[in-house]
Amino acid sequence: MRQVAIEPTFESWQAAARTLLRERVPPSEVVWLDSAASPGGTGPAGSGPPPDPDSSQPVARVPRQFIELAGQVVRHRDPARWPLLYEMLWRLVHESRDLLEHRTDPLVRRLVAMAAQVRREAYHEEVGEMLRLQEGGGGAAAFVPADAGLGELREAATRCTGCELYRHATQTVFGRGPADARIVLVGEQPGDQEDLQGAPFVGPAGEVLDRALAEVGLARERLYVTNVVKHFKFVERGKRRIHQTPRLPEVAACRPWLDAELAVVKPRVLVCLGATAARALFGPDFRLLRERGRFIETPWASRTLATLHPSAVLRGENEAAQARLYQMLVADLRMAAEASAG
Ligand code: URA
Ligand code: SF4
Repeated sequence: MRQVAIEPTFESWQAAARTLLRERVPPSEVVWLDSAASPGGTGPAGSGPPPDPDSSQPVARVPRQFIELAGQVVRHRDPARWPLLYEMLWRLVHESRDLLEHRTDPLVRRLVAMAAQVRREAYHEEVGEMLRLQEGGGGAAAFVPADAGLGELREAATRCTGCELYRHATQTVFGRGPADARIVLVGEQPGDQEDLQGAPFVGPAGEVLDRALAEVGLARERLYVTNVVKHFKFVERGKRRIHQTPRLPEVAACRPWLDAELAVVKPRVLVCLGATAARALFGPDFRLLRERGRFIETPWASRTLATLHPSAVLRGENEAAQARLYQMLVADLRMAAEASAG
């Protein structure tokens, strides 16, 4: 038996799991000791995972889906998550790379259920946080001038401190485009380039978007393009700033800006780019991949449509997948273009 002591983090588990996998230690021979679960709290000193001799070299390529699942499962409280994840990893490598597709496999089911529970709890926590924020009179509402045009709104938004995001970002990235635009596109939040340049969709996602717009004959300068959240949310990793998906409290805090923009522009067609925008406008249960590409009436536009986020295209696993995702984006934007002309 191998005893492996880890910190209760994904990184710590991953480092240990890689070593075990490289040394071909089967799951049945590992006892996982999680320092948070062991009596005394911090765990025996010096019993952490053996230093990973070559952690930059992945032992085996595992599907991205597993990494995503594991990222959620590690936040569960059940100490069994460590051996279960290792068993999954072992089987992905030694049995089938497609194991996660086998939804009837008991191990897959158990991990998927743990991840779902983690997501549910996180959601409830966010809702609670959001309600506390609203009760406290927080959010952007106090900064939004009444009956203002786009210019005045944009100017006022530069001073917004309605949530914590303004503290670390460079500037507010307000929407861009003419007040009489027939189509409004709503993204998630500015990225690194947008934060630096002060305009929406000017980075890599913007390039994909521009390509798709050109393909369906839409001129970017005739559209109003904005985001659900107006400040860049990120974590720093060395010199890089890594985008973080905004959470419900931030989406709710920033909402008055989007509402004000939509009240001014009154678009014929409203397009949500990606799940964050779609959930903000259609509600938290909206399932993007199931419900994209058709018009649904909302209070902001009789024809509201959700499509993929342009950066989802860039995240496609390979060229073929990227091409497929891109075609979905193009097809949905074509619907928007046709509806706006009619
Ligand atoms: N992604 C978004 O959602 N919005 C931007 O403005 C840029 C990238
Ligand atoms: Fe204000 Fe929105 Fe920026 Fe938060 S993200 S500070 S609510 S503009």
